[in-house]
Amino acid sequence: MINLQDKVVAVTGGASGIGLATVKLLVSLGAKVSIGDVSQAGLDAAKADLEQANAGTTNVFTKAVDVRSRESVDAWIAATVEWGGALDGAVNLAGVVGKYEDRTMKDFDEDDFDFVMSVNLKGVLHCLRAEMNAMNGKTGSIVNAASISSLIGVGSDAAYVASKHGVLGLTRAAARECGSGGVRVNAIAPGIVDTPMLRKSFETRGEISTSHTALNRKGEPEEIANLIAFLVSDASSFITGACYSIDGGWNC
Ligand SMILES: NC(=O)c1ccc[n+]([C@@H]2O[C@H](COP(=O)([O-])OP(=O)(O)OC[C@H]3O[C@@H](n4cnc5c(N)ncnc54)[C@H](O)[C@@H]3O)[C@@H](O)[C@H]2O)c1
Repeated sequence: MINLQDKVVAVTGGASGIGLATVKLLVSLGAKVSIGDVSQAGLDAAKADLEQANAGTTNVFTKAVDVRSRESVDAWIAATVEWGGALDGAVNLAGVVGKYEDRTMKDFDEDDFDFVMSVNLKGVLHCLRAEMNAMNGKTGSIVNAASISSLIGVGSDAAYVASKHGVLGLTRAAARECGSGGVRVNAIAPGIVDTPMLRKSFETRGEISTSHTALNRKGEPEEIANLIAFLVSDASSFITGACYSIDGGWNC
């Protein structure tokens, strides 16, 4: 059902975790993927990994981009269109937790709050703007990284929770703005997924139990990538403005 042959898809945060798993799956489904990530070392490693797996694929383009900067995002999307000839899909996954330590609102760190908001929320806005402009006059599909923290409160993590609630708002607003032009915008809300971000968080904050979830285990990045590929593809052609929980049954 999912055919992405020759579709050009831009992925932020594609050098690690859910992003890297998504890039691998999209390429295997025939897409041409542009990876934007702030980590040049991560981009180099991802490209080498993909080239080895796909025997020297030419279907991957990488460029260092900092989603906090509108100019940086615009330059990456322009370079992507120049490389691929169009933009059919985009997946905005770049995200940060901020300082990996518990911090209640009573003693929150203003610089850390601004940092998290500028990557997780303003970064998504910069990407949506550039991607919607690049898709103007054609159809397209955009997927944003929300989180279980878009739907519930989590203590000692106010900046992350606020930024992810905001991503849901941006998703719904963007879906309204560009739906009549044929561009769909959706969000995914993962629970606990085994990635470098999660492992680093566990190291400093301690492990979060999964015993409250129906499946009682962490998710794998590849399981999240499956949902993203569906939402990017035409198989989800009547879905927009939606947020899909993918959390092993957090609230059921
Ligand atoms: N892992 C989880 O349990 C989980 C749960 C819910 C939501 N999410 C969200 O999914 C997304 C991916 O998370 P992950 O776990 O794969 O994390 P990760 O840390 O493995 O990957 C995040 C990537 O984003 C990149 N990045 C960070 N700041 C950037 C910036 N300013 N500009 C461009 N790239 C930047 C990093 O270099 C990294 O490659 C994030 O938005 C995260 O908030 C993750």
